[in-house]
Amino acid sequence: KMKYSAYCSLFLCIIVSLLSFSLRASAHSHEDFLQCLSHHFSNSTTFAKLIYTPNDPSYISVLNSTIRNPRFSSLSTPKPLLIITPSNSSHVQASVYCSKKHGLQIRTRSGGHDYEGLSYVSEVPFVIIDLRNLNSVIVDVHEKTAWVEAGATIGEVYYRIAEKSGNLSFPAGVCHTVGVGGHFSGGGYGFLMRKYGLAADHIIDAQLVNAEGKFLDRESMGEDLFWAIRGGGAASFGIVLAWKIRLVPVPSTVTISIVDRNLEQNETLKLVNRWQSVADKFDEDLLITVGFQTVNSTDREGNNKTIIQATFVSLFLGKVDGLLSLMEKSFPELGLKRGDCIELSWIEVVHYFAGFPLRGELEDLLNRTPQEGLSPFKTKLDYVTKPISEKVLETVLQRLYEEEVGKGLIQFFPYGGKMSEIPESEIPFPHRAGNLYKIFYRIEWDEGERDVKAVERHLDWVRSVYNYMTPYVSKNPRGAYLNYRDLDLGTNNDKGPTSYAQASIWGKKYFGSNFKRLVHVKTKVDPKNFFRNEQSIPPVPSPGVNKNNNYTP
Ligand code: FDA
Repeated sequence: KMKYSAYCSLFLCIIVSLLSFSLRASAHSHEDFLQCLSHHFSNSTTFAKLIYTPNDPSYISVLNSTIRNPRFSSLSTPKPLLIITPSNSSHVQASVYCSKKHGLQIRTRSGGHDYEGLSYVSEVPFVIIDLRNLNSVIVDVHEKTAWVEAGATIGEVYYRIAEKSGNLSFPAGVCHTVGVGGHFSGGGYGFLMRKYGLAADHIIDAQLVNAEGKFLDRESMGEDLFWAIRGGGAASFGIVLAWKIRLVPVPSTVTISIVDRNLEQNETLKLVNRWQSVADKFDEDLLITVGFQTVNSTDREGNNKTIIQATFVSLFLGKVDGLLSLMEKSFPELGLKRGDCIELSWIEVVHYFAGFPLRGELEDLLNRTPQEGLSPFKTKLDYVTKPISEKVLETVLQRLYEEEVGKGLIQFFPYGGKMSEIPESEIPFPHRAGNLYKIFYRIEWDEGERDVKAVERHLDWVRSVYNYMTPYVSKNPRGAYLNYRDLDLGTNNDKGPTSYAQASIWGKKYFGSNFKRLVHVKTKVDPKNFFRNEQSIPPVPSPGVNKNNNYTP
């Protein structure tokens, strides 16, 4: 049965005890690097506690502890020379300085949820800067703001805000273990999206260490860089230490409902079709998603069979009476009844949608360990700008039968409301007005990496579903979302620079016309491309940059 855990892929971390370290750098540069770090860290006790070398007994458990996609924690996955877990900004500055000096790449990790593992895997010699120790959340209810360190999880953010006020929150994602370092810097959407937009829309200040190892805040980094790290992926620009966020109001009571329908019944497809034309137009206090998964079911004669289940999840920012009257007006076809609805506080909803029992212990949100076993997975995403025909919907959803029961997920998440009001260039995340909803395709599997054929088969499934959808979704460019990173869209060259034209192939999918400005900012702040990964913004002069290095839109 598809539960809320469908939003929050809850997989238990696989601890692999045997490892071959593909440490590509010489032991020599490794030692020099360590020496450089120890020289710059203030005292040796702190240094020993914050650095994990492959010889350290806790190295593997620290490495694996926040890996959310076991596809990238196998024996053959390249491992870091060191894991550095800074406890203050000077440790981060020293790490940047020494990595640069000794030619090592940095992968910054906050929550470790990167879909393609870019925060903890690299093909070149690298170190991980893991921000787990920088995780404070300081809430100012009077100012309605909070300072959140990059290593905090969104569960911690929600919990700490709710501790101070039941009427304030923050519009971010659903899975409580997601880290704010990556999540806020790539956008960050959740159930408050139609009301307030994205997490990145509500960042009002930030602290960052740049490629020169300098500590910057909004004022000292300037508006171009501050713009770029709110949705453009901070990994291309530096290491974010903390964000200052603007909190948003939530009512004391909100209402949720979860309604399952069997797709084999004709009216369900019609219902989904209807959802497509109304979901983005609902009052912005209402958000209804629909997800599809295969489930085992028993028919009236007692026969077991597999069906596709459509699950409609509604969140209304108000009481049940308000929801029922809105539904009567806007979406009577769903047939929502009072008995389908539950009134809760906002934080109880956050807790429940994170996959915990209804009205359970809210402290669960502070727990970083996922509740269920982790499986390898691959995700792709599309934006829909015109309703898709019933025939095409039926065909794509039937493809779920090709995979094992419950392993494939297709989910529709509605747009409209505040998302249509924010200009495309406000922050680098460009997908605003004109989108009806987004589609999220996910496949997970149980086979290990050694079963190459099985893994390929699952990857082929999700890729071919995505290919099938090409004519029916956004085009020129086909939209993509950085936080749902997808290396199928293209990657930087391993060796040598990547041209603007080449990076535009994926850059314009993620950022639309904002890509040009991101390249400009990158060229200005990190011309030697110190902060890089497979899909980082390359520092090349873009056509929009004139001789004086000024950006011309
Ligand atoms: P991680 O630490 O892996 O970092 C992701 C990227 O950001 C990497 O490139 C990393 O180097 C960089 N980075 C991290 N910290 C940084 C820092 N301090 N400074 C600079 N760069 C930094 N998304 C969404 O919008 N809504 C949702 O509801 C969900 N739900 C969800 C559930 C699950 C189970 C997963 C696996 C993923 C999601 N996501 C999501 C996607 C999520 O938003 C995305 O993977 C974020 O980038 C994760 O941020 P982390 O800090 O956890 O990842």
